[in-house]
Amino acid sequence: MTQEILIRRPDDWHLHLRDGAMLQGILPETARHFARAIIMPNLVPPVVTGEQAAAYRDRILAALPKGMTFTPLMTLYLTEGTDPADVAAAAESGLVKAVKLYPAGATTNSHSGVRDLDKVMPVLEKMAEIGLPLCTHGEVTTAEVDIFDREAVFIDTVLDPLRCRLPELRVVMEHITTEEGATYAAEGGPNLGATITTHHLIINRNHILVGGIKPHYYCLPVAKREKHRLALRRAATSGKSCYFLGTDSAPHVDALKEHACGCAGCFTATNTMALLAHVFEEDSALDKLEAFASLNGPAFYGLPVNDEKIRLVKHELAQTFPEKIITEAGPVTVFNPGYPVHWAVEA
Ligand code: DOR
Ligand code: ZN
Repeated sequence: MTQEILIRRPDDWHLHLRDGAMLQGILPETARHFARAIIMPNLVPPVVTGEQAAAYRDRILAALPKGMTFTPLMTLYLTEGTDPADVAAAAESGLVKAVKLYPAGATTNSHSGVRDLDKVMPVLEKMAEIGLPLCTHGEVTTAEVDIFDREAVFIDTVLDPLRCRLPELRVVMEHITTEEGATYAAEGGPNLGATITTHHLIINRNHILVGGIKPHYYCLPVAKREKHRLALRRAATSGKSCYFLGTDSAPHVDALKEHACGCAGCFTATNTMALLAHVFEEDSALDKLEAFASLNGPAFYGLPVNDEKIRLVKHELAQTFPEKIITEAGPVTVFNPGYPVHWAVEA
């Protein structure tokens, strides 16, 4: 028997679109289902100024195939040289919707990130004043801290002190991967939100490492133990307003994923909505999918929800997704959950 649900068109509150041939090749994968996305600024070189964000937005819109509608919500990459006045002007013009904090060295193209938070306090104070959210890659980078503990240590040693110092600052904990992250977000009040990726609802660290290393499951923050995946499932399917979808869909060509030093990132843009329907159905929470994917994010960012709807249909037969998206930059492997999925987005 087929089953179907209709939800408002979703948005992706954390997305990597890259640039050039990669952007051209993968943008339709997001624009097919999503109305808007918060666009990560970790290009080479990074998107630091309002002028650079405007130029990047124009390149994204130029890459959008005719007949597709999609609105990129731009972000600025926070550096120790960022000018508070430039951030304020970019926000006031409506161009920029958030600023991204990458602790230096935390992940792909993060070397221009922040080493000393004191140096960016004037920017953060300005953001608190104008209500512009800070999106955080919440991992410490200290060599002594185990990679599986980096999120929890970030919350205790960086995020909580920062929020005590500047409680008016609106913060999004990006791609939370731990029970600690989910709990902290739920207790943070209206100025705190958290995005959750599709893949962190599906894989734990065993999926990456048991039976041979699976480079296409490697991302940052790295997937944790099963109890953390279950905590994320409870969070996402709770419908609570602090949790919303940010896929962190992060394309890298196969040659760089299947490599002696493989890049971090799971590419989920193509099948995210089908996978989420599967996950939410499994947890008897299909009625909460719209809140997670389409309502909670706009509410946090103070934007209207989308008027259009999308239809998700569950078929008798398992659905097929492309194994790879072929781009002029090279092939990109689509995230494979490792089990059959019967859901599909239909017109
Ligand atoms: O897995 C990830 N990939 N995590 C990040 O934080 C960055 C992203 C990328 O840009 O590839
Ligand atoms: Zn990301």
